[in-house]
Amino acid sequence: MTNVKSLMSSFLTIDDALSLDGETTKALQLTHLNRLRTLDGHAKYFTRAQGCTFIDENGDKHLDMIGAVGVVTVGNNNEFVWSCLQKCFDSRQFMMGAISYHNVAAALAHNLSLLSPQGKLTKVGTATGGAEAIEGMIKMVKLATRTKPEKTHLLATLNAFHGKTSGAVSLGGKDKWRAYQQPTLANIDHIEYGSVTALENALSTGKYKAFVVEPIQGEGGIIVPPEGYLKAARALCDRYDTLLVVDEIQCGAARTGKFWCCEHDDIVPDCIVFAKGLSGGLVPFGGYLCSEALYEAAYGSLETCYHHTATYQENTLSAAAALGSLQFILEHDLCGMAQRKGEWMMQRLREVQQRYPEVIKEVRGKGLMIGVEFGKIPADQQAQFGEYYSAMIAGSMVENYRVQVNFTINNLAVFRFLPPLTISDEELAYGMKAFEESVAQVVNAVASATVNA
Ligand SMILES: Cc1ncc(COP(=O)(O)O)c(C=O)c1O
Repeated sequence: MTNVKSLMSSFLTIDDALSLDGETTKALQLTHLNRLRTLDGHAKYFTRAQGCTFIDENGDKHLDMIGAVGVVTVGNNNEFVWSCLQKCFDSRQFMMGAISYHNVAAALAHNLSLLSPQGKLTKVGTATGGAEAIEGMIKMVKLATRTKPEKTHLLATLNAFHGKTSGAVSLGGKDKWRAYQQPTLANIDHIEYGSVTALENALSTGKYKAFVVEPIQGEGGIIVPPEGYLKAARALCDRYDTLLVVDEIQCGAARTGKFWCCEHDDIVPDCIVFAKGLSGGLVPFGGYLCSEALYEAAYGSLETCYHHTATYQENTLSAAAALGSLQFILEHDLCGMAQRKGEWMMQRLREVQQRYPEVIKEVRGKGLMIGVEFGKIPADQQAQFGEYYSAMIAGSMVENYRVQVNFTINNLAVFRFLPPLTISDEELAYGMKAFEESVAQVVNAVASATVNA
């Protein structure tokens, strides 16, 4: 048996952990966690976060323009969300599992159904993150359609991203993530994103259980589909008896100026999958909202009601963080903030684009979900500067201006802005100044390298 006394002499307590210095933290992380990911040239050690500000180990401040990739809608370490969690700690709530009713989860489900499009999605399933929520949705769709033998397949879109668990990767539309995961789930087809014709051609075969689609493709490069795409999808899914599922894990929770992005098209899907923006980034959370008919078709029998369970389902802390985030989003009109600030930002970015049309190919998005697509660096300079301008410009923003931005993982030509929706006008203005000056500096550096070559 391990000698506990000797083990405890090197064991780190929570007090040790919270006061680890930067060097030890990095050494432990590189030894025991994902080494290469952390070695990314711009990885920093942030020790505190508040609102839109990170503070690094040297006490320097950084502006958060990526919001933990769209998670921190309500700002980092939102005090109100913390206070909701604290109330659960203080009252020593029962936190776990299937053997009890859960007051906070029940209240959250009630609130989510009030907030659902037209109040029509009244059933909720919970998970610990986006990909697990997608898995739950896939299982529900399969169970709900088990009585329809002609429905054999799922339909998704090319370039889509739905997460990296096995089912979610299978549903995603990028070979890169499926490549070493064979066999992926069978019977999933992918069609061109945004094409109503492709959708009708596929659905008219009559074989699809569900069409799963992001209202705006996030990781694919902030791709906004043509106006009316979701409306057409709703009509076609109705015509061909196919469920319509929208993945709002990145674009939901007020990010695009409406609480749910699909509300821009004024539709009611059969199911909305959510995660990221719903728990303030403090506690893992995800899930789905769906119609009573869909839920009951899947789980409304004794035979199937336990076909999808998980240890942390309906967890009180997750539900409390989500409940607090929802209340904060509504009381502070974060939908309106996302819309107004997004419009201002988009205008600024397009002004820069007009000045550098050969460098910035497109600025696109909705609300505070904005992508900038960059052109390629001239071929003879790529060995020195990389393939796209995006990497150099992001690097300059991070290093020279201490502004955090991030790439979209399915499209390295695009980097995106997903700031907390609480970002102030001054912070936004600073972020745009950093962007503008970084573009100018990188363009000059590439041009002078070309002249000197
Ligand atoms: C649209 C979409 N779906 C699913 C996921 C997966 O979520 P998670 O990383 O929480 O598993 C993501 C994550 O970026 C996403 O953007």
